[in-house]
Formats: sequence, C-alpha cells, structure tokens
Amino acid sequence: MITREQVLGRLASVMDPEIHKPITELGMVESVEVNGGQVQCGIKLTVAGCPLSSRIEQDVRAAVAALPGVESVSVRLDVMTPQEREDLANRLRPRHVSTITQKDSKVRVLICGSGKGGVGKSTVTVNLAAALQSMGRAVGVLDADVYGFSVSRMLAARQQPVVLGDGVIVPVDVHDLRVISMGMLVDENTPVMWRGPMLHKLVDQFLNEVAWGELEYLIIDAPPGTGDVAISLAQELPKARVLLVTTPQEAAARVAGRVAQMAGKVGQEVVGVVENMAYFRCPNCGEAHEIFGRGGAQRLARELHVPLLGQVPIDPALPSGGDLGEPIVWSRPETETSRVFFGIAKAVEQAGW
Ligand SMILES: Nc1ncnc2c1ncn2[C@@H]1O[C@H](COP(=O)(O)OP(=O)(O)O)[C@@H](O)[C@H]1O
Ligand SMILES: [Mg+2]
Repeated sequence: MITREQVLGRLASVMDPEIHKPITELGMVESVEVNGGQVQCGIKLTVAGCPLSSRIEQDVRAAVAALPGVESVSVRLDVMTPQEREDLANRLRPRHVSTITQKDSKVRVLICGSGKGGVGKSTVTVNLAAALQSMGRAVGVLDADVYGFSVSRMLAARQQPVVLGDGVIVPVDVHDLRVISMGMLVDENTPVMWRGPMLHKLVDQFLNEVAWGELEYLIIDAPPGTGDVAISLAQELPKARVLLVTTPQEAAARVAGRVAQMAGKVGQEVVGVVENMAYFRCPNCGEAHEIFGRGGAQRLARELHVPLLGQVPIDPALPSGGDLGEPIVWSRPETETSRVFFGIAKAVEQAGW
C-alpha cells in the first residue's frame, strides 16, 4: 500500500524551478490523497499564472509515478494566499529579518570609531546607547570590535543569543537595549584570529541576520583604525554616521583623523568628535585638571568641520561600572560624567543623525 509519507518523500525531490528548493520545504504541497493506486496532489503555486506551472506539474507527476504501485497521478494546481506568500518570503530571506542595511532603512546608525584602542570607544558606545534608551528610544548595540570586544562585559550580557530557524539571531536584551557582541559568541580568553572574508561574513550576519526588531538607533562599536571590519561596515552601511572618539592627546586625535579620512573615502559622514578623558575634576578642590593635555579633540573637530559633541571627564566610576555591567548613565545618571553622555545623546537626537 502506498502511504502519504512515501508520496511526500517523492515530492521532496521536486525542486521549484525558480527558488531551487524542494516544493515540500516551500510550503507548496497543499494536499496529498492516496486512493489505492491513485494519487492526487494539490500543489500551491507562488503566483497565479506562474509561467513554470506546467513544469512543476510535470515534475510532480514524474516523481510520484516513480513510486512502485502508483497507477495514476493527478495534480491540482492552486495559488498561495498573499499571507502564505509573505510567510514564504520571510522564510526565504533571513537576510531581511533586519532592515538596517536596506536603502530606505529608517534606523539611525551611529558608528563609534577611533584611531587607536584604549581611548574609551566602548565606554562611549555603551553609555551613549544607554542614555538614548533612558530617553525612551529603541536602541540596538552592535559590538563589531571583533578583536577587542568588551560591550558584552560592560553590559553584563555574556549569554549566547538565541538562534531561531533559518539563522535568525535574536539579540540579547539588557534593560531594553538589544545587544549583540562578539563576546557572546566566543570565549573571552580565546584569541580571535579571523581574517578579511570571515570578518566580512560576520559583520554581514550581525547586520542582516539579527532580528533587531523596530529600532530607532543602532550604535556600533567599531574596531579601532581602518581594518577589514571598518571597511565592511562602511560598505554595508553607507548612510551610517561616524562619531570619532579621542583622548586630548594630539597623537590620538591625529590617528582619529585617519579614520575620518577613510570614512570620507567610502562616503560615510563623520558627524562629531567626542573627547574622552578630557580632564579630571579634583574631588577636594573641584578644579578640572587636564591630565592628558588639551585641545587635540577641538582641533580635530575644527579640521573636520564637525562639532565637539562632549568632553567626558576621567572618572574612576567608569572602569568599575564597566566591570559590573552597569553603564554610569543608568547607575548614576546625576553625575557630571553622566550629564556629558546625556548631552551627547541629546545632540545626536537633535541633529537627527
Ligand atoms: N573617562 C574615563 N575615565 C576613566 N576610565 C575610563 C574612561 N574612559 C574609559 N575608561 C577606561 O579605560 C579603559 C579603556 O576604555 P574602553 O572604553 O574599553 O576603550 P576602547 O574601547 O577605546 O578600547 C577601560 O577600562 C575603561 O573603563
Ligand atoms: Mg573597546
């Protein structure tokens, strides 16, 4: 006796000629009825008047007829409902779970860049994101600093993200921030030794296969300098705005200028400079000491014709908050440091970047 399963097994060998996937996987098999040696298959086409319908019909017939004991095969063609078609499209395009890289995307993407490491790029990323979140915005944070990831630690979000079928990655929720970090995918003590193409693939996945949901802002912690990841980001996100993070030192500001040059070359706009470790306010006398010098960030901003968006003081609460996974703008929003971050967030909001 012929079973339904046997017929389905045969139908699994029939490919949709356009989509190049088995019709069984595409939800195109509506029904299978077996009556002795007679088999009737209901097949749903993606669109009415599908030019390849006769080919599909033929292939179905041939596949089922090859089953021993089958005497006749009849095929009934039907058409998918708009909803079924949409479901199919969504299944076929995991890339489109995220709309961030689409041309008409409304998500405002800000890349925090720096010429070198250790200047506080991740600190700025996390606190800017947290400040925008506190201001009621829907914010995603992407830690694209694949070699020096630290966002997962700074937000205490080390758990692995859930991966749904079709490679859809669900970002980790941290107080309503949606976070994806390399630190969730690899062990913090394992060196990442990936090269260009793999890094490109990773960035591509982070941007296109993460179910970011409805975002207003995506803040990206980019690796320092002008490496492969920075180039991939620039290619995928030509409309992203770049915030340059520097310390006051002339040298740090100058290497940041190189990042600005690269951004310019790929058509990304550098919109502002953030000076980190700008000064230390003495808790006793209240005076601001400019420990790392002064003026570098201001000069860089002037050269680039962009605003200096904020000067973040040296604050011992920043490293400790970073280790605890508590951005200072959340744990101590009233401090001078937090007010600077909120100021940057407001500038970002007002500028409409
Ligand atoms: N304004 C600041 N005051 C004190 N420590 C800071 C400040 N900004 C950053 N840090 C600390 O300096 C270190 C490097 O900062 P991080 O944000 O990780 O830099 P980057 O991402 O540029 O490498 C971290 O330990 C961080 O907590
Ligand atoms: Mg960092």
